[in-house]
Amino acid sequence: MAAELEAYAAEVATCTRCRLAEGRTQVVFGVGDPNADLMFVGEAPGFHEDQQGIPFVGQAGKLLDKLLAGIGLARADVYITNVLKSRPPGNRDPKPDEIEACEGHLFRQVALIQPKVVATLGNFATKLLSGKQLGITRVHGQEQEVILGGRPVLLYPIYHPAAALYTPAMLKVLEEDFRRLPELIGRVNAPPPEPAPVLMAEPAVQLGLF
Ligand code: URA
Repeated sequence: MAAELEAYAAEVATCTRCRLAEGRTQVVFGVGDPNADLMFVGEAPGFHEDQQGIPFVGQAGKLLDKLLAGIGLARADVYITNVLKSRPPGNRDPKPDEIEACEGHLFRQVALIQPKVVATLGNFATKLLSGKQLGITRVHGQEQEVILGGRPVLLYPIYHPAAALYTPAMLKVLEEDFRRLPELIGRVNAPPPEPAPVLMAEPAVQLGLF
């Protein structure tokens, strides 16, 4: 899978499916473990991400690193990407036609990485991957099973770290929601429950066992 993901990244590096190709420095494909159980999906590259070609390297990224460390994980343990792979000018919101042009790349990444849990950061990733228009304020912290990349995945919407940077109340909620991630990954990894013992329909005596 790692080789396939790398080959796909090379393909996407020259993508011109939308207007953002004209203004970007480079495509920001994604970073981390190609076999990660946990994947984060943000919104779009900002200035620093566009410069460095790596998602979440600015202030929001530093907070994401801190939140990860808080649950005993590092960047290398997870996979991090965005809905859009190219920076919108002036960090404006993604436009619907840009999301439509780019979403195939995200779906292919999910299909190749096969994560167990996908944490969507903020509204854009949450709405795209849940297929519903419910906003992040209503659905954050509520996991739901969805089919992504042809497989069941636990979708877990949480606030975008950039939104939490300057709003302490939101940061607290983000920290609380983040703390549930190990449990969610563990839940998906847990072996299925033992089948219930088959009860004998007839008393053992009648079956000639005694
Ligand atoms: N915000 C995002 O949504 N993605 C990044 O990569 C950086 C900031």
